[in-house]
Amino acid sequence: MKFDNILFQVENRVLTITVNRPDKLNALTTHTIRELNELLAAYRNDNNINAVVITGAGEKAFVAGADISEFADFDAEQGRMLSRNGHQLLFNYIENYSKPIIAAINGFALGGGFELALSCHIRVASDNARMGFPEVTLGVIPGYGGTQRLAQLAGKGKALELILTADMIKAQEAFDLGLLNAVVPQADLMNKVYEICEKIKSKSPVAISHAIVAINANYKDGVDGFAVEIEEFGKCFENDDFREGTKAFLEKRKPDFKGKLAQA
Ligand code: COA
Repeated sequence: MKFDNILFQVENRVLTITVNRPDKLNALTTHTIRELNELLAAYRNDNNINAVVITGAGEKAFVAGADISEFADFDAEQGRMLSRNGHQLLFNYIENYSKPIIAAINGFALGGGFELALSCHIRVASDNARMGFPEVTLGVIPGYGGTQRLAQLAGKGKALELILTADMIKAQEAFDLGLLNAVVPQADLMNKVYEICEKIKSKSPVAISHAIVAINANYKDGVDGFAVEIEEFGKCFENDDFREGTKAFLEKRKPDFKGKLAQA
C-alpha cells in the first residue's frame, strides 16, 4: 500500500499512522480521509496487530483541521456530503474499530484534528498541544462529530462554551476536563503511547473488541447499552481467549491469547 498523505509502520504488533502534510500542519483533505480509511480497513481483521496509534508529522501539529481550501466554495449539499462521508469513512469508523486506537496529539488539534482525536479510544497529548474548535470563526460548525463527542466527554456546558467561543485550550486544561488520558513532555509522547499499547497487548484482543462495542452502545440513540453489554459478554464465552484467560489464571501463569477476532 502506498499513500500520498499518510505514513505507516507496523512494529511490535502496533500499527502507527502519521498524517503527513507538515507544511499544511497536517490539515485533513478528503483524499487523506480516504487513505486513512483504506489503511485502517486493511488492518481491521489482522490478528498480528493489537493497537493503532495515530499522530501528526512534525513537532507543531497533530492535525490543524479539515483542509479549509477544499470546502471554501461549497454549497449546502456539498457541505452535507463532506460531513457525511467523513463520519462514515473515518470518525465513526475509528470509534467503532475493533482494536484500540490511540491519538498521540503532538501539537495543534483543531477542528477536524480535534474531532479525529475525540473519535479515538484513548488520547495522550504532549504538553505543547493546543486544541479547540475554531469552526464558528469560519462561519461553520464542527462537522466530523465534534458537537456530539465533545459533549459526551466534557459535558454539554463545556462543549457549548468551547464551540461557541472557539477558544483554544492547552493540553493541561483538556486533561482537567477529562478529554485526555495523559499529558507528557513532547519528547516522551510516543514512549507513553507505546507504554499503553504494551498493556493492551497483554490482554485479550477479543475481549477488548467486545468492550469497545459495549461502551459505545451507551452513546447510540435508541440502543439499550445494558442489553448490548449482556450480548457482548455472552459472545466472549464463544472464544478461545476466554478459555485461555481463565485457564491461565487457575494455572497461575500468564495467558497466551491468540485473539482471533470474528470477521467484522
Ligand atoms: N486548512 C488548510 N490549510 C491549513 C490549515 C487548515 N485547517 N491549517 C493550517 N494550514 C496551512 C496554512 O494555510 C499555512 O499554509 P501556507 O504556508 O501555504 O500559507 C500552513 O498550514 C502553516 O500554517 P500557518 O497559519 O502559517 O501557521 P501558524 O503557526 O501561523 O498558525 C494555526 C497555526 C493552527 C493557529 C493556524 O494555521 C490556523 O488557525 N489554522 C486553521 C485552524 C482551523 O481553523 N481549523 C479548523 C478548520 S474547519
